[in-house]
Amino acid sequence: MNYINNQYQLIKKLSAGSYGVVYEGENIQNKSFVAIKIEKKDKPLTLEREVQALSRLQKITGIPQIYWNGTHNGQNILVMQLLSKDLGYYLKEYRKFSLKTVLMIADQLLLTLKNIHSKSILHRDLKPENLMYHQRQVYIVDFGISKMYRDSNQKHIPFRDGRPFVGTTRYAPIAAHKGHELSRKDDLETLIYILVLFLKGVLPWQNQILQNNKEKQKLIGEKKIKLSSTEICQDLPIEFQKALEQIKCVYLSHIKSLGFSVEPDYDYLINLFRKLGQRHGFEYDNLFDWCKEEEIIAQAKMTQQSEKIQQFSLKWQIQQIRCISQSLQIPSTMECLEKKVSSISNIIQNPMQISQSAVIVEINSEGTLSDDSTNYLYNNYQQLENFSNLYKNHLQIMKEK
Ligand SMILES: Nc1ncnc2c1ncn2[C@@H]1O[C@H](COP(=O)(O)OP(=O)(O)O)[C@@H](O)[C@H]1O
Ligand SMILES: [Mg+2]
Repeated sequence: MNYINNQYQLIKKLSAGSYGVVYEGENIQNKSFVAIKIEKKDKPLTLEREVQALSRLQKITGIPQIYWNGTHNGQNILVMQLLSKDLGYYLKEYRKFSLKTVLMIADQLLLTLKNIHSKSILHRDLKPENLMYHQRQVYIVDFGISKMYRDSNQKHIPFRDGRPFVGTTRYAPIAAHKGHELSRKDDLETLIYILVLFLKGVLPWQNQILQNNKEKQKLIGEKKIKLSSTEICQDLPIEFQKALEQIKCVYLSHIKSLGFSVEPDYDYLINLFRKLGQRHGFEYDNLFDWCKEEEIIAQAKMTQQSEKIQQFSLKWQIQQIRCISQSLQIPSTMECLEKKVSSISNIIQNPMQISQSAVIVEINSEGTLSDDSTNYLYNNYQQLENFSNLYKNHLQIMKEK
């Protein structure tokens, strides 16, 4: 078998994004499950960039752990922490999310973004498919088009225009449509668009019938510029509008060549949304809309497993009962009967036994089970212990006779 790094085996394809194919895999040494991202042959260097960014971001909450990276059969590969599902999946399932869920997502992601930016990295492609849920935490994945916005001396990259479009049209910040170099505020602008989408199920520039990507980028960009924050956040709590205005404020000052490198006020946004949550009396328990369903599925899996164990246990018991009751049909000497009692006792001591409830088992004078009792044991599987006690008593009586 051709294992990656002699250690990782592909199990099944999870998803194919634009730059890579992601598989669920297994570390055959410690039997743990992993995610394996294999770079598409026609998109070279994106995985290298991703590994560089992720390496800088390890240990930040909400960033997947890297286990291994390298080449295998001539392809670049990244092995990382296996996460559950992306938020694009849940959005399709639920159409939109509750305010509580959106505020918990906002709270987690604003903090994660603050931490990512503090390591001099911009994500530049935030979207529901690049946000993943796992164990009550939202993760940010896919750093394929991320960029360092500061050098090792913390010097900010200069503002430039005439840049090629980066990101995904639906979520891109206005600056990307204008061909500007992106900065920290742009990841935040995109995040607000995503939150609006999560609450409303749709963004005002969605569902346009357009010919090609260029046309789409241009028209959607124009719409984003034309619409006011009030229009974009229509029918939502005022805080979403305030958040967008705060970011656009940085953007507007950037027009005056000021705001490009300004550090956004993450804490203002975090507090703004937290206060909204408080007003609604939400407990930030990180039980998102989909958690109930996940828990039910997990519980069902557990029940299935324990049923399997029980079935196994019952099969094992019925086999034992069959053996014993078959042998009991043969008239036995006292010595022989004693052997059987000890074999039954051994079985009873086996921890797989779950015999508890009482049943009347008839044992006739030759020490054999009546047909009814045998059938009962066959059908109920549970009564070995009681049977053993009855049997011992019966032997005692016979001895005394
Ligand atoms: N660590 C992971 N665990 C489980 N699924 C993942 C993981 N990383 C990515 N995925 C899934 O694979 C999809 C594509 O991965 P992504 O890194 O976004 O690749 P691309 O660069 O091709 O968009 C994601 O949208 C997500 O559904
Ligand atoms: Mg992606």
